Amino acid sequence: MNTDSLVTIDGLTREDMLDIIRMASYFEEHPNHRILEGKVVATLFFEPSTRTRLSFETAVNRLGGRIIGFSDAATSSSSKGETLKDTIKMVSNYVDLIIMRHYLEGAARYAAEVTDVPVINAGDGANQHPSQTMLDLYSIYKTQGTLDGLTITMVGDLKYGRTVHSLLMAMRHFNPTFRFVACNELRMPDEYKLFCDKNGIRYSEHTDFSPAVIDTSDIIYMTRVQRERFTDIMEYEKVKDLYTLRNSMLDSSRPNLRILHPLPRVNEIAYDVDDNPKAYYFDQARNGLFTRQALICRALGIDPLAYKNHRP
Ligand code: CP
Repeated sequence: MNTDSLVTIDGLTREDMLDIIRMASYFEEHPNHRILEGKVVATLFFEPSTRTRLSFETAVNRLGGRIIGFSDAATSSSSKGETLKDTIKMVSNYVDLIIMRHYLEGAARYAAEVTDVPVINAGDGANQHPSQTMLDLYSIYKTQGTLDGLTITMVGDLKYGRTVHSLLMAMRHFNPTFRFVACNELRMPDEYKLFCDKNGIRYSEHTDFSPAVIDTSDIIYMTRVQRERFTDIMEYEKVKDLYTLRNSMLDSSRPNLRILHPLPRVNEIAYDVDDNPKAYYFDQARNGLFTRQALICRALGIDPLAYKNHRP
């Protein structure tokens, strides 16, 4: 596997993460630094996406590189039965970097193992979404001025939500306290609670999204209940609308509280929250562009030297 691949957030140290945040901050001020001239990047999306694909592609375009790929696997030869291995080996003949989203957990690792070209995991099933995590960390850093010692409340689909799984793992470097708010059907899986135990991370579980939880949070991370992960649609219908954040619920929240959501949202954040200054999810998506510019440069071993003197 190319060591510059980003398959899991666990592959990054605390220093790596702070370095990526510094580089993202640099790109926020210099989004059109044409540092990728002559590079070609593939975006292979076997699952739907708006933000991840478009922000990665914008990142490449603004940095002066070129993009190939597909946003719908039905238009690729995988629809004729070509294996993922063969697809990756073919695409590797053409590009310097592969960015891939796939519905199967472990697909990104497998892809990275069958090619020498670096691979960035843009989401693999319910497993990991490391570039989302890096933009989440950048958003938390920008709004809180630190990543250390924060109380983070995760709400909604904690069972299938790859964004919360990746964020939880990343935060092990920053002494967090987690609150997990979910119904019994969508609780945080045991493996992640075990991960917390092993890494000395404090957490508590709640079925009630109560004022006591909201008013003592620095970050509330809302998530969508993902219909596409359910095999039984009746099970989805039962749980899909259990947690909705409304503006009135924020009246006694901390001044520094920010509401994050990886998006897309369905019903879990009422529209009346959007105008609250604590709503940060659209800015969070914008931060994805700069963070992904940093991740692309890192994967390609390209160093915009100037960022090292940059203060986020
Ligand atoms: N947050 C996120 O992954 O959004 P998309 O599915 O639109 O890429």
